[in-house]
Amino acid sequence: MKITAVLLAAGQGTRMKSELPKMLHPICGQPMVFHALSAARAASTEEPVVIIGHSAEAVRRAIGESAGCVVQENQLGTGHAVMQAEALLKGKADIILVTYGDMPLLKVETLQRLVETQRTNSGPISMLTVVYDNPRGFGRIVRNPDGTVAAIVEENQANPQQLEIKELNVGAYCFDAAWLWDALHRIQLSPKGEYYLTDTIELAAADGRSVKAIVMDDFAETIGVNTRVHLAEAEAAMRRRINDGHMLAGVTFIDPSSSYIDAQVSIAADTVIWPNTTLIGKTSIGQRCQIGPNSHIRDTRVGNDCKVFMSVSEGAVLENSVDIGPFARLRKGAHLSDGVHIGNFGEVKDSTLGPGVKMGHFSYIGNATIGAETNIGAGTITCNYDGVNKHATLIGEDVFIGSDTMLVAPVTIGDGARTGAGSVVTKNVAANTLVVGVPARAIRKLERNPKKHESHL
Ligand code: UD1
Ligand code: MG
Repeated sequence: MKITAVLLAAGQGTRMKSELPKMLHPICGQPMVFHALSAARAASTEEPVVIIGHSAEAVRRAIGESAGCVVQENQLGTGHAVMQAEALLKGKADIILVTYGDMPLLKVETLQRLVETQRTNSGPISMLTVVYDNPRGFGRIVRNPDGTVAAIVEENQANPQQLEIKELNVGAYCFDAAWLWDALHRIQLSPKGEYYLTDTIELAAADGRSVKAIVMDDFAETIGVNTRVHLAEAEAAMRRRINDGHMLAGVTFIDPSSSYIDAQVSIAADTVIWPNTTLIGKTSIGQRCQIGPNSHIRDTRVGNDCKVFMSVSEGAVLENSVDIGPFARLRKGAHLSDGVHIGNFGEVKDSTLGPGVKMGHFSYIGNATIGAETNIGAGTITCNYDGVNKHATLIGEDVFIGSDTMLVAPVTIGDGARTGAGSVVTKNVAANTLVVGVPARAIRKLERNPKKHESHL
């Protein structure tokens, strides 16, 4: 049987009071529509079709190649929206799974259950309902005295008695395709001037066909987003789900309620997430790391056994056993090799720090490459910008950069070299050479590994 999902995403989302189309408001780092689309795709057998309309081009761009799109020029209601897919899908699908782009929490398993129900249903519709005290503007499920579903009544059309009904329309349905394409044309215009998909339930009843309803018990799955209050509820529910998933996979959260992990972030087992930690974008964290408290990590790859303590990292790579913070800042292109240590108030941008590099206090390293086991003294600055262009600083292995050294780029410091405290280095420094002063001049050749030489200048 061919099962095609039709995802409705054409509405403006007026109640969001936003310039951004509702479908593109992010939930745990991904546009709302992505969540609904990935669940719909997983529950169907064919490529899904997304109905777009309001801000169609922006929504289409966000969806990209991941689904087909059909434009609903005028948003005349959810029934009218599904009708837009008729020309594309008529005769090509046996079951149509309809879901709404503003229902980001519906799980794949729930949609699969819905599809399975319709596969064996002799009637034309299977749908999801939920019993909940707060109706949240959802359509009410009207049942016949024998318990079968008679109709869905939208809140704005419900009488006081119907408004009391606690069983609500979740907004996910499976239809027998042939019946659906015909029924859509029989929907009457509502007093609000819309064609409601929900009216198909009454049409099935009028045809003498039964409607199957699956009553869900997890309300969190059924959070629909119409306002920013709902958006925050959906975000919180999604975050709980994400964090639970990581915990079940072996990650410790000291306080899951204050840990914000985006949907696409990966974390390996035995890592500990401390409170007030934000992991967003394309971030991955290896095993046995200590992350946080108070760390913000975006688009960063962190290896195994790393420690990120009260620090910010965006677009960086930390290999294994790297230790940063408190108050370290890694910017785009920072690459810290195995065993690098950055202490307080170190900033790194577009630079590679070799294995074992130590940079304990108050430094800025930009557009630089630093060799293994080099020590960057407190207050070191790569003066990488001349007001127009950025220039590179190359520092060799086993170098000792003295406190408060200014490295005026472009400049190269040879292996085993050493700079005195307060040096302003404007010219290249040869290997194993000690330079001091302003501007820095060579005063001595160094025989031995400077690290084992005098400890301070
Ligand atoms: C809808 C249901 C309601 C259900 C609730 C669950 C209808 C008539 N009502 O109400 O029974 O309880 O969802 O969340 O279906 N859309 C279009 N084109 C349109 C109109 C809407 O694509 O012309 C899309 C919207 O982008 C949205 C979805 O359909 O993703 C639902 O529309 P919305 O206005 O949010 O309906 P609700 O009032 O939430
Ligand atoms: Mg809605």
